[in-house]
Amino acid sequence: MTEKYHSTDPMSDVISDDYRILQIISRFGIKLGFGDQTVEATCRNAGVDVSTFLTVVNYVKDAAHARISEMAEQVDVPALIAYLKNSHSYFVDFRLPGIRRKLLEAIDLSSGNRLAMLILRFYDEYAQEVERHMTFENNHVHPYVETLLQGNLPQESFRSIEEQYDEQHASIEKSLSELKSIIVKYYPSDNNASLMGEVLMDIFMTDEDLHSHCHMEDTLFAECIRRLEHEVRLKGGQPIPDSCEEKGEASNNALSEREKEIIVQVVKGLSNKEIAEALFISVNTVMTHRRNISRKLQIRSAAGLTIYAIVNGLVNLDEVQL
Ligand SMILES: [Fe+2]
Ligand SMILES: [Fe+2]
Repeated sequence: MTEKYHSTDPMSDVISDDYRILQIISRFGIKLGFGDQTVEATCRNAGVDVSTFLTVVNYVKDAAHARISEMAEQVDVPALIAYLKNSHSYFVDFRLPGIRRKLLEAIDLSSGNRLAMLILRFYDEYAQEVERHMTFENNHVHPYVETLLQGNLPQESFRSIEEQYDEQHASIEKSLSELKSIIVKYYPSDNNASLMGEVLMDIFMTDEDLHSHCHMEDTLFAECIRRLEHEVRLKGGQPIPDSCEEKGEASNNALSEREKEIIVQVVKGLSNKEIAEALFISVNTVMTHRRNISRKLQIRSAAGLTIYAIVNGLVNLDEVQL
Protein backbone atom coordinates (compact mmCIF):
# COMPACT_ATOMS: atom_id res chain seq x y z
CA MET A 1 0.00 0.00 0.00
CA THR A 2 1.20 3.53 -0.73
CA GLU A 3 2.30 5.87 2.05
CA LYS A 4 -1.04 7.63 2.15
CA TYR A 5 -4.53 6.40 1.42
CA HIS A 6 -6.36 7.89 -1.54
CA SER A 7 -9.98 8.20 -2.61
CA THR A 8 -9.36 5.73 -5.47
CA ASP A 9 -8.01 2.95 -3.22
CA PRO A 10 -10.38 0.00 -2.71
CA MET A 11 -11.78 0.33 0.84
CA SER A 12 -11.07 -3.36 1.51
CA ASP A 13 -7.36 -2.80 0.73
CA VAL A 14 -7.23 0.10 3.18
CA ILE A 15 -8.64 -2.10 5.94
CA SER A 16 -6.36 -5.02 5.11
CA ASP A 17 -3.42 -2.63 5.31
CA ASP A 18 -4.30 -1.36 8.80
CA TYR A 19 -6.93 -3.07 10.91
CA ARG A 20 -7.42 0.10 13.02
CA ILE A 21 -9.31 1.58 10.06
CA LEU A 22 -12.12 -0.85 10.92
CA GLN A 23 -12.85 1.19 14.04
CA ILE A 24 -12.77 4.39 12.04
CA ILE A 25 -15.23 3.22 9.41
CA SER A 26 -17.68 2.13 12.09
CA ARG A 27 -17.38 5.52 13.86
CA PHE A 28 -18.12 7.26 10.57
CA GLY A 29 -21.24 5.08 10.30
CA ILE A 30 -19.91 3.11 7.30
CA LYS A 31 -21.05 -0.51 7.25
CA LEU A 32 -19.05 -3.48 6.02
CA GLY A 33 -20.03 -5.28 2.82
CA PHE A 34 -18.71 -2.72 0.33
CA GLY A 35 -17.22 -5.32 -2.04
CA ASP A 36 -14.59 -3.85 -4.36
CA GLN A 37 -15.79 -0.27 -4.04
CA THR A 38 -13.28 2.53 -3.66
CA VAL A 39 -12.97 4.72 -0.58
CA GLU A 40 -14.77 7.49 -2.45
CA ALA A 41 -17.72 5.33 -3.55
CA THR A 42 -18.07 3.75 -0.10
CA CYS A 43 -18.08 7.13 1.62
CA ARG A 44 -20.55 8.64 -0.85
CA ASN A 45 -22.93 5.70 -0.45
CA ALA A 46 -22.82 6.15 3.32
CA GLY A 47 -23.24 9.95 3.12
CA VAL A 48 -19.78 10.53 4.60
CA ASP A 49 -17.51 13.40 3.57
CA VAL A 50 -14.71 11.69 1.62
CA SER A 51 -12.05 14.28 2.35
CA THR A 52 -12.67 14.21 6.12
CA PHE A 53 -12.63 10.40 6.14
CA LEU A 54 -9.31 10.30 4.26
CA THR A 55 -7.81 12.94 6.53
CA VAL A 56 -8.74 10.94 9.64
CA VAL A 57 -7.45 7.60 8.30
CA ASN A 58 -4.21 9.17 7.09
CA TYR A 59 -3.80 10.87 10.45
CA VAL A 60 -4.30 7.58 12.33
CA LYS A 61 -1.95 5.76 9.95
CA ASP A 62 0.95 8.09 10.67
CA ALA A 63 0.14 10.70 13.31
CA ALA A 64 3.80 11.40 13.99
CA HIS A 65 4.29 12.83 10.50
CA ALA A 66 0.86 14.40 10.08
CA ARG A 67 0.96 17.85 8.52
CA ILE A 68 -1.71 19.34 10.71
CA SER A 69 -2.05 22.65 8.93
CA GLU A 70 -2.55 21.01 5.51
CA MET A 71 -4.85 18.37 6.97
CA ALA A 72 -7.04 20.94 8.71
CA GLU A 73 -7.81 22.45 5.30
CA GLN A 74 -9.19 19.10 4.12
CA VAL A 75 -11.60 18.67 7.03
CA ASP A 76 -15.31 19.34 7.04
CA VAL A 77 -15.68 20.33 10.70
CA PRO A 78 -19.28 19.06 11.21
CA ALA A 79 -18.19 15.68 9.77
CA LEU A 80 -15.23 15.57 12.16
CA ILE A 81 -17.46 16.46 15.13
CA ALA A 82 -19.88 13.67 14.19
CA TYR A 83 -16.95 11.27 14.06
CA LEU A 84 -15.64 12.38 17.46
CA LYS A 85 -19.12 12.09 19.03
CA ASN A 86 -19.49 8.54 17.72
CA SER A 87 -16.03 7.76 19.06
CA HIS A 88 -17.14 8.99 22.50
CA SER A 89 -20.19 6.70 22.41
CA TYR A 90 -17.95 3.83 21.40
CA PHE A 91 -15.59 4.34 24.35
CA VAL A 92 -18.18 5.17 27.00
CA ASP A 93 -21.06 2.86 26.04
CA PHE A 94 -19.22 -0.07 24.51
CA ARG A 95 -15.48 -0.34 25.00
CA LEU A 96 -15.07 0.55 28.68
CA PRO A 97 -18.11 -1.48 29.93
CA GLY A 98 -16.82 -4.41 27.84
CA ILE A 99 -13.44 -4.29 29.55
CA ARG A 100 -15.15 -4.07 32.96
CA ARG A 101 -17.12 -7.25 32.24
CA LYS A 102 -13.93 -9.10 31.31
CA LEU A 103 -12.09 -7.66 34.30
CA LEU A 104 -14.84 -8.92 36.64
CA GLU A 105 -14.42 -12.40 35.18
CA ALA A 106 -10.64 -12.30 35.47
CA ILE A 107 -10.20 -11.01 39.00
CA ASP A 108 -11.13 -12.93 42.12
CA LEU A 109 -13.62 -10.95 44.20
CA SER A 110 -15.02 -13.99 46.03
CA SER A 111 -12.79 -14.09 49.09
CA GLY A 112 -12.60 -10.39 49.82
CA ASN A 113 -9.41 -10.06 47.79
CA ARG A 114 -8.40 -6.47 48.57
CA LEU A 115 -6.11 -6.09 45.58
CA ALA A 116 -8.89 -7.28 43.24
CA MET A 117 -11.32 -4.82 44.80
CA LEU A 118 -8.83 -1.98 44.50
CA ILE A 119 -8.19 -2.76 40.84
CA LEU A 120 -11.91 -2.75 40.12
CA ARG A 121 -12.37 0.53 41.99
CA PHE A 122 -9.42 2.06 40.18
CA TYR A 123 -10.92 0.95 36.86
CA ASP A 124 -14.35 2.36 37.71
CA GLU A 125 -12.85 5.71 38.69
CA TYR A 126 -10.89 5.73 35.46
CA ALA A 127 -13.99 4.94 33.37
CA GLN A 128 -15.88 7.74 35.15
CA GLU A 129 -13.06 10.16 34.43
CA VAL A 130 -13.18 9.29 30.72
CA GLU A 131 -16.96 9.68 30.70
CA ARG A 132 -16.75 13.09 32.43
CA HIS A 133 -14.17 14.23 29.91
CA MET A 134 -16.19 13.08 26.90
CA THR A 135 -19.35 14.63 28.33
CA PHE A 136 -17.42 17.90 28.69
CA GLU A 137 -16.47 17.65 25.03
CA ASN A 138 -19.99 16.78 23.87
CA ASN A 139 -21.65 19.48 26.01
CA HIS A 140 -19.08 22.22 25.97
CA VAL A 141 -16.45 21.94 23.24
CA HIS A 142 -18.68 20.76 20.39
CA PRO A 143 -21.42 23.37 21.01
CA TYR A 144 -18.62 25.96 21.15
CA VAL A 145 -17.49 24.90 17.65
CA GLU A 146 -21.09 24.79 16.41
CA THR A 147 -21.49 28.43 17.50
CA LEU A 148 -18.43 29.31 15.43
CA LEU A 149 -19.84 27.37 12.47
CA GLN A 150 -22.92 29.58 12.66
CA GLY A 151 -20.65 32.62 12.30
CA ASN A 152 -20.84 33.74 15.95
CA LEU A 153 -18.02 34.21 18.43
CA PRO A 154 -18.67 32.58 21.79
CA GLN A 155 -17.94 34.54 24.99
CA GLU A 156 -15.09 32.28 25.93
CA SER A 157 -12.00 32.00 23.74
CA PHE A 158 -10.80 28.59 22.61
CA ARG A 159 -7.48 29.17 24.35
CA SER A 160 -9.10 28.93 27.77
CA ILE A 161 -10.93 25.72 26.78
CA GLU A 162 -7.74 24.30 25.32
CA GLU A 163 -5.96 24.43 28.68
CA GLN A 164 -8.66 22.24 30.26
CA TYR A 165 -8.61 20.00 27.22
CA ASP A 166 -4.88 19.35 27.52
CA GLU A 167 -5.04 18.71 31.25
CA GLN A 168 -7.92 16.25 30.96
CA HIS A 169 -6.22 14.35 28.14
CA ALA A 170 -2.99 14.07 30.10
CA SER A 171 -4.88 12.92 33.19
CA ILE A 172 -6.88 10.13 31.52
CA GLU A 173 -3.80 8.82 29.75
CA LYS A 174 -1.85 8.78 33.01
CA SER A 175 -4.63 6.90 34.84
CA LEU A 176 -4.75 4.14 32.23
CA SER A 177 -0.97 3.74 32.32
CA GLU A 178 -1.16 3.36 36.09
CA LEU A 179 -3.85 0.72 35.79
CA LYS A 180 -1.77 -1.27 33.29
CA SER A 181 1.24 -1.01 35.52
CA ILE A 182 -0.64 -2.12 38.68
CA ILE A 183 -2.06 -5.21 36.97
CA VAL A 184 1.15 -6.18 35.21
CA LYS A 185 3.34 -5.74 38.28
CA TYR A 186 1.18 -6.83 41.16
CA TYR A 187 -1.84 -8.92 40.25
CA PRO A 188 -1.28 -12.65 40.78
CA SER A 189 -3.26 -14.38 38.03
CA ASP A 190 -2.48 -18.01 38.89
CA ASN A 191 -5.95 -19.29 38.14
CA ASN A 192 -7.08 -16.94 35.42
CA ALA A 193 -3.89 -16.12 33.58
CA SER A 194 -5.46 -16.33 30.12
CA LEU A 195 -8.44 -14.17 31.06
CA MET A 196 -6.26 -11.57 32.72
CA GLY A 197 -3.97 -11.61 29.69
CA GLU A 198 -6.96 -10.85 27.49
CA VAL A 199 -8.10 -7.99 29.70
CA LEU A 200 -4.62 -6.55 29.58
CA MET A 201 -4.54 -6.83 25.79
CA ASP A 202 -7.87 -4.97 25.67
CA ILE A 203 -6.55 -2.29 28.00
CA PHE A 204 -3.38 -1.84 25.94
CA MET A 205 -5.39 -1.56 22.72
CA THR A 206 -7.83 0.88 24.29
CA ASP A 207 -4.92 2.92 25.58
CA GLU A 208 -3.52 3.18 22.05
CA ASP A 209 -6.94 3.98 20.60
CA LEU A 210 -7.70 6.65 23.22
CA HIS A 211 -4.26 8.17 22.85
CA SER A 212 -4.81 8.51 19.10
CA HIS A 213 -8.27 10.02 19.72
CA CYS A 214 -7.01 12.57 22.27
CA HIS A 215 -3.98 13.42 20.15
CA MET A 216 -6.20 14.09 17.14
CA GLU A 217 -8.28 16.44 19.27
CA ASP A 218 -5.20 18.22 20.60
CA THR A 219 -3.74 18.72 17.14
CA LEU A 220 -6.06 18.40 14.12
CA PHE A 221 -9.36 19.31 15.80
CA ALA A 222 -7.77 22.15 17.79
CA GLU A 223 -6.25 23.54 14.58
CA CYS A 224 -9.67 23.41 12.86
CA ILE A 225 -11.21 25.31 15.80
CA ARG A 226 -8.49 27.97 15.80
CA ARG A 227 -8.96 28.48 12.08
CA LEU A 228 -12.71 28.76 12.44
CA GLU A 229 -12.34 31.23 15.28
CA HIS A 230 -9.94 33.30 13.20
CA GLU A 231 -12.28 33.27 10.18
CA VAL A 232 -15.29 34.31 12.24
CA ARG A 233 -13.31 37.11 13.82
CA LEU A 234 -12.16 38.34 10.40
CA LYS A 235 -15.73 38.34 9.16
CA GLY A 236 -16.58 40.85 11.82
CA GLY A 237 -17.85 38.78 14.71
CA GLN A 238 -17.60 40.41 18.12
CA PRO A 239 -14.13 40.29 19.63
CA ILE A 240 -13.60 37.35 21.93
CA PRO A 241 -13.30 38.28 25.60
CA ASP A 242 -9.90 36.89 26.41
CA SER A 243 -8.95 35.41 29.75
CA CYS A 244 -5.37 34.87 28.65
CA GLU A 245 -2.39 36.99 29.34
CA GLU A 246 -2.26 38.55 25.88
CA LYS A 247 -5.60 40.20 26.49
CA GLY A 248 -5.98 43.26 24.31
CA GLU A 249 -2.88 42.54 22.29
CA ALA A 250 -4.32 40.33 19.59
CA SER A 251 -5.31 43.27 17.45
CA ASN A 252 -1.92 45.00 17.34
CA ASN A 253 1.55 43.81 16.51
CA ALA A 254 3.32 44.57 19.79
CA LEU A 255 4.84 41.47 21.36
CA SER A 256 3.64 40.48 24.82
CA GLU A 257 6.16 39.76 27.57
CA ARG A 258 5.34 36.05 27.26
CA GLU A 259 6.01 36.12 23.51
CA LYS A 260 9.38 37.76 24.15
CA GLU A 261 10.18 35.01 26.67
CA ILE A 262 9.30 32.40 24.06
CA ILE A 263 11.56 34.03 21.48
CA VAL A 264 14.45 33.94 23.95
CA GLN A 265 13.90 30.21 24.52
CA VAL A 266 13.67 29.52 20.76
CA VAL A 267 16.87 31.42 20.18
CA LYS A 268 18.60 29.38 22.90
CA GLY A 269 17.73 26.30 20.85
CA LEU A 270 14.94 24.83 22.99
CA SER A 271 12.23 22.67 21.39
CA ASN A 272 8.53 23.50 21.85
CA LYS A 273 8.31 20.75 24.47
CA GLU A 274 11.30 22.09 26.37
CA ILE A 275 9.90 25.61 26.25
CA ALA A 276 6.56 24.34 27.56
CA GLU A 277 8.31 22.65 30.48
CA ALA A 278 10.50 25.66 31.23
CA LEU A 279 7.57 28.09 31.28
CA PHE A 280 5.02 25.69 32.85
CA ILE A 281 2.60 25.95 29.92
CA SER A 282 1.28 23.38 27.42
CA VAL A 283 3.00 22.61 24.11
CA ASN A 284 -0.16 23.82 22.35
CA THR A 285 0.10 27.17 24.10
CA VAL A 286 3.75 27.43 23.00
CA MET A 287 2.67 26.69 19.42
CA THR A 288 -0.07 29.32 19.62
CA HIS A 289 2.44 31.88 20.89
CA ARG A 290 4.84 30.96 18.10
CA ARG A 291 2.12 31.39 15.48
CA ASN A 292 1.24 34.78 16.95
CA ILE A 293 4.91 35.80 16.97
CA SER A 294 5.28 34.78 13.29
CA ARG A 295 2.14 36.72 12.40
CA LYS A 296 3.18 39.85 14.29
CA LEU A 297 6.83 39.91 13.16
CA GLN A 298 6.37 38.20 9.80
CA ILE A 299 9.42 36.13 10.73
CA ARG A 300 9.07 32.35 10.52
CA SER A 301 12.57 30.92 10.81
CA ALA A 302 14.57 30.40 14.01
CA ALA A 303 17.47 32.20 12.36
CA GLY A 304 15.27 35.22 11.66
CA LEU A 305 14.05 35.25 15.25
CA THR A 306 17.64 35.08 16.45
CA ILE A 307 18.53 38.18 14.52
CA TYR A 308 15.42 39.95 15.80
CA ALA A 309 16.27 38.98 19.40
CA ILE A 310 19.86 40.24 19.14
CA VAL A 311 18.93 43.47 17.41
CA ASN A 312 16.21 44.17 19.98
CA GLY A 313 18.36 43.30 22.98
CA LEU A 314 16.32 40.27 24.06
CA VAL A 315 19.47 38.13 24.22
CA ASN A 316 23.22 38.56 24.21
CA LEU A 317 25.23 37.07 21.43
CA ASP A 318 26.86 34.55 23.81
CA GLU A 319 23.45 33.12 24.78
CA VAL A 320 22.56 32.28 21.20
CA GLN A 321 22.49 28.70 19.94
CA LEU A 322 24.33 28.81 16.59
FE1 LIG B 1 -12.87 13.18 22.59
FE1 LIG C 1 -10.78 14.38 24.41
